[in-house]
This record gives sequence, structure tokens and C-alpha cells, in this order.
Amino acid sequence: MNYRHEFHAGNFADVFKHIVLTRILLHLLKKETAFRYIDTHAGSGFYDLFGEEAEKTAEWRAGLGKLIDHDAPVAARNLIEPYLRLTAPAADEAATPRRLYPGSPAIAAALLRPQDRMICCELHPKAAQDLQSHLGRDRRVKIIEIDGFTGLNAFVPPVERRGVVLIDPAFEARDDLDRSLNVLESAWRKWSTGIFLLWYPIKDQREVELSLKRLSAGKIKRILRLELQIAEPTPVGPLAANGLLIVNPPFPLEGESEIILPFLSQAMGEDAFARHRIEWLAGE
Ligand SMILES: C[S@@+](CC[C@H](N)C(=O)[O-])C[C@H]1O[C@@H](n2cnc3c(N)ncnc32)[C@H](O)[C@@H]1O
Repeated sequence: MNYRHEFHAGNFADVFKHIVLTRILLHLLKKETAFRYIDTHAGSGFYDLFGEEAEKTAEWRAGLGKLIDHDAPVAARNLIEPYLRLTAPAADEAATPRRLYPGSPAIAAALLRPQDRMICCELHPKAAQDLQSHLGRDRRVKIIEIDGFTGLNAFVPPVERRGVVLIDPAFEARDDLDRSLNVLESAWRKWSTGIFLLWYPIKDQREVELSLKRLSAGKIKRILRLELQIAEPTPVGPLAANGLLIVNPPFPLEGESEIILPFLSQAMGEDAFARHRIEWLAGE
């Protein structure tokens, strides 16, 4: 377990994943009844964008850095505004991000209401400890140092019966996507009305297609697939493309993606290689 998100926080993949997560949470907030947020691979909660690790890769400068440098068309700006409010100062201030970039549990904690609850699984002891020091005092938040795949199986269905699971593994092992899909399918069998958001890297598009093929023939009824590529993907080079599977997406999310993804690919992508995909892997 060598992965440390400190090197990658605020990169194009985080921007993409966290904007979609924010949109899903905002849709859940529309109903008064409580919901549950479950983060299987939570990370440490906040990341210093000017710290040693982030400075070393400078990944956020090609992600959040480019996003806040770009003027978004009004429709896109309205949709990403809630995410920007959590990560960057207001538009009329200097275009610099907040020093501490919020990871997925910090984004969720900022949006949850008193009646909502969240569970965070994080296996790395230091990351779990950092997360505990950031969010541990919040009584809505439970942080557990546990394997996220094992945890997920134990935590669904939640008593609220409404909510979202983020599955965001480190993808250190080659079979991590297949493992994530197994876990997704078994968690969905226990909680078929839950929203599941699964992030995956794309190093080799053919390998991804092979892994995802089983879902189109599987039992899960509604799966929206979003992908974003910012540069030419290479099997060994830096990450250039990534995707999100959303099981049971809130109704407006597909239309919102039609507005958000072209803007993200324009703002963060290289002209010759930038592309995005919005399609249903199952249903609709
Ligand atoms: C991609 S990062 C998570 C980023 C976070 N979800 C966010 O969006 O801000 C993956 C995290 O998973 C943790 N991790 C690795 N293996 C794990 C496991 N089996 N169960 C839970 N966490 C694990 C790593 O320590 C790392 O913090």
C-alpha cells in the first residue's frame, strides 16, 4: 500500500470525480429525509496543494489550476460553482485555489445536513489518522481503519435507505477494476436503490472495455458511464484519461454531464486529445 493521494490531489481526475460527487450530493439534499454517504477509500480529507508532495508532481496545476483559470459558460459555471466554492475563492478574488484541497470526505462533510450521516473507510494508518484529526469531531462522521471493500459489504444497506457510495480505490494492483466491479455488484444486490459512484483510471481502453463488458450483460439496471480524457493515454505515462460509473444516477445528472464534461475537457485538455464520453452502460 504505497499510494498517497497527497501527490495527486486536485488533479484533473479529482476535479472530474469531485464535481460529479458534488452534483449527486446536491440532488440528495433536495429531499428532507436523511441520507447516508459511504466512502470506501476515503483518503486523509484535506491535502496541502503547496506541500512537498503536491509541489513535486504539480498535478493540481494541470487540473484545478487550469479550471479556475478558464472562464466557464454560464450554464457550466452554475453547475460547478458549488464545487468551486469548496476548493477555490470567489471568482472576483485572485484565481488561486485554497491551500487545503478538500478530498471526497471533506466535500461530503461540508454539504451534509445535521440529519445525514457518513462512514469513511481508509486502510492506510497515517491517512486514517489525518482524516480522524480533520473530521473526527463531527458527530455525523464515522471513520474506520478497515479495508473499504470489506467495509462496504458490511455497511449496506444503510438504515436511511437513501444515499451514495463512493468507490475510489488506489488502483495499485492490475485487477483492481475487476475487484471493484465484483464489490459493486454484490453491494448493489444488497442495496439496489442506492447510488454508487465508481472511479477508474484508463491506461488501456481495451482492457477497460473488457472489464466493463460484463456490466452491460449484468443485473444492475441503470449505469451511466462518464469518461474524460485530457491527453494521449499511454500504458506507462502519466494518467491521461479516467472514468466514472454511476449506478442509479439522479435523473438530472446525465443532462448536467452534457454541459459539464465538454467544459472540463476544454479547460483541462490538450486540443488534439481531449475527449469525453457520456453513455448508458445499462438501462435508459
Ligand atoms: C484515490 S485515494 C482516495 C481519494 C479520496 N476518495 C478523495 O476523492 O479525496 C485512495 C485511498 O485508498 C486508500 N486505500 C488503499 N487500499 C485501501 C483499502 N483496501 N481499503 C481502504 N482504503 C484503501 C489509500 O490509502 C488512499 O488514501
